[in-house]
Order: sequence, then structure tokens, then C-alpha cells
Amino acid sequence: MNIGIDKIGFFTPHLYLDMKDLAEARNVDPNKYLIGIGQSKMAVIPPTQDVVSMAANAADKILTEEDKEQIDMILFATESGVDNSKSGAVYIQRLLGFKKQVRVVELKQACYAATAAIHFAHGHIAMNPDSKVLVIGADNARYGLGTKGEVTQGGGAVAMLISRNPRILSVQDDGTYWADDVMDFWRPLTHDEALVDGKYSTNVYLDFFKHVFEEYQAKTGFDISKFDAMCFHLPYTKEGFKALKIAIENADAEVATKLTREFENVRRYSNQIGNLYTGSLYLGFLSLLENATDLKPGMRIGMYSYGSGAQGEFYSGLLRPGFDKYIEHQAFQKTLDARKRLTVDEYEKIYNSRIKDEKTRKLDISSDPAKFVFAGVEDYQRQYVVR
Ligand code: COA
Repeated sequence: MNIGIDKIGFFTPHLYLDMKDLAEARNVDPNKYLIGIGQSKMAVIPPTQDVVSMAANAADKILTEEDKEQIDMILFATESGVDNSKSGAVYIQRLLGFKKQVRVVELKQACYAATAAIHFAHGHIAMNPDSKVLVIGADNARYGLGTKGEVTQGGGAVAMLISRNPRILSVQDDGTYWADDVMDFWRPLTHDEALVDGKYSTNVYLDFFKHVFEEYQAKTGFDISKFDAMCFHLPYTKEGFKALKIAIENADAEVATKLTREFENVRRYSNQIGNLYTGSLYLGFLSLLENATDLKPGMRIGMYSYGSGAQGEFYSGLLRPGFDKYIEHQAFQKTLDARKRLTVDEYEKIYNSRIKDEKTRKLDISSDPAKFVFAGVEDYQRQYVVR
């Protein structure tokens, strides 16, 4: 049975910081950020957006009433969840008006959890062919003002409808995985910002890629020439480029050129948004779909998912016949171009103004144009507004 991504939607807030402005404020050569790290802009998450509202905004764009009727499971992947007990998925169930006969759960394994969710959805649909599953990856990547990780912040949400006979990508049951207990990036329960050993994390990411890609090739008999594009988890776009270099080191020149060209399409949106954690790999896939001009049905796309701590997985998907009818060329670029550029001062004020450990505070939502917004807390209960 063909099972995979039937629809994919994305949301990031209406604010951004230009990396040249950040470089100037931090007294760093802008080329370090633009070329060395591979980021030109960074999404700034206002206090009126959190993972729930961003997820609702992403899912709302792609779902019809008929989809909502057929969805019987909502899998919400995040590592910046808003509650230690209640899942983000149950807020989504109410905010988007789903039926009550639905399973809702939140999943965590750093940036990997949306990939786990896709495979869990795959298994569920294999047993229940008429079901559809909503998979969401939503995060707010925060490292702290003036830290080395600051340039790799970002945020947003990817929503995917998983079904049989999907319109976009048939997810193959060919995954290879690698897990090990390492401390490359983590966030203790008391912390609002991630702790990261960035260089070590990059090395673990690349090391895990070698493990899973070698095992994938041994398991399937497919070498790099079988791939038409490779998508990677992108904490910052240079990290994915380093993995691509490993993947193509023994490829012939034509294959290496093609995959390098497609990687520019994969990284185009992440370069302007920053890290999305759980949604990052799938933002890269969406970016490929909307920016590449030579993709064809049947082409094989490689997917490398990585979540610190750490879990790696490599799997592939095949583009479905007619997939291009559902993709609008550079559609999301228009949304990115319409964002408001912040000064570094404005960004720092916004960064420090989010609600944390407060019992009651009402937020001014008037300057946030999104359909779903986080309006504050009342007696520790989160308040969401739908316009
Ligand atoms: N022009 C061009 N390139 C430059 C440059 C300049 N003026 N100055 C530095 N660079 C390059 C460096 O050579 C280096 O390239 P390389 O990685 O190919 O060697 C790159 O820019 C980064 O410089 P470096 O000094 O290593 O950066 P850093 O110490 O500030 O750390 C990160 C960078 C990415 C490690 C740091 O931002 C971080 O930890 N981010 C978080 C990453 C993360 O979230 N990981 C976990 C999730 S998987």
C-alpha cells in the first residue's frame, strides 16, 4: 500500500532579523553568518505565538472539513512544548474543530520526533487504510542573546497530512536508524533555552549520518546515484551541506552536481528562517518542492533526520504521479518576503518578553496578523484566540 505525505503546510511568524544586522551588533564578520553558518535571516517568534498557535496556523492552511472528518490521530512533535503534561495535540483538536473520536499525543526526541510520527502514522494507516493522520512538527529554537547558538535560532511549524495514496510523497519502508546516549544538545526542565556543545553536536550529526547512510545502502542495495535530491535536518544550513559532502564523496561528477544543485533548493527557506527543530527536515522538503524546477514523478528523495541526544534515521520517499499539481512554485517565498524586518533592539525586546512561569498575564495581540494567536495565561491556563 502506498502511504505518505498527502499535503504539507508551513507557518512562521511575520517578523525576522537580518543576519547582517545581528553580525554588526555582535561585532562579527557578516560572512561568518552568511557563508560560514549559512544563514541570511532568522524568524523571530513574538510572545503571541507559541508551538500550539504556530501548529494551528500551519495545519489550518492545508486541511478541509473532509480531511478533519477522516483524521483519527493527531501526532504533535515538539521539543519546546508548552505544558509538562497536556499535549499540544489536544489544543489543536479544539482550535481546528476536529471531531472528538481522535487520538491525540505529543512526541519528543529533540529534532527527530516528527520523523517518528510519520512512521507511526504509516503503521496506523497500514492497519486502518481509511484513516488519515495529522503530523505536526512545531518549535521555537532559543539559545540566548549573545550566545554562539544565537545565529542558529528560528521557529515555525510544519503540518503534514499522512494518508494512503498520497498526492505528494510515498514514504518508503526502508529506514535505517542509529541511537546513542550522548550530551550534544539538551534543555533541562528548568531552562527556557537550549544547552549545546555545537561543534560536538555537528560531529555527532555527521557521524550518525555515516552510520545510517552506510547501513541504508547495504540494506537496500541503492547507492547515491539512486537519489534525485537529498533533504537533511538543518540546524543551520551549512550543517546539511557538510552531510551532503559526505554523501557525494564517491559519487560520479554528474550525480554530485545534480545533488549539490538540488541542495540549494532544499536549503533556500531554512536559510531565511533558521532552525525549526522538529520541522526542519520537512521545511527543507517543502523548499525543494517549491523551488526546484526539474523534479519528476517517481524521483527518489533521501531524508536524513537527526535529533540530538541522539537519534538518527535515513529513509527515502518517491514523488507521486501528479505531485506538481499541488505545489505552487515559490509560494512560501512570497510570505517570507512580506515579513517585517526588526532592528536588533526590537528583536531583543521581543526575545525577553515571552510569558514564562506567570500565573496571569494578558498579551496585546493587535500587532500579530496570524489567524491563531496566543493571548496570554489566566490562572496558568493558556488562552488562544481564533480570528
Ligand atoms: N567568513 C566565512 N566563514 C567564516 C568566517 C568568515 N569571516 N568566520 C568563520 N567562518 C566559518 C568557520 O570556518 C566555520 O566553518 P566550518 O564549520 O566549515 O569549519 C563556521 O564559519 C563556523 O565558525 P565557528 O568559529 O566554528 O563558529 P562558532 O564557534 O560560532 O559555532 C555553531 C558555530 C554552529 C557550532 C554554533 O552556532 C552552535 O552551536 N549552534 C547550535 C547548533 C545546534 O543547534 N546543534 C544541535 C542541533 S542538531
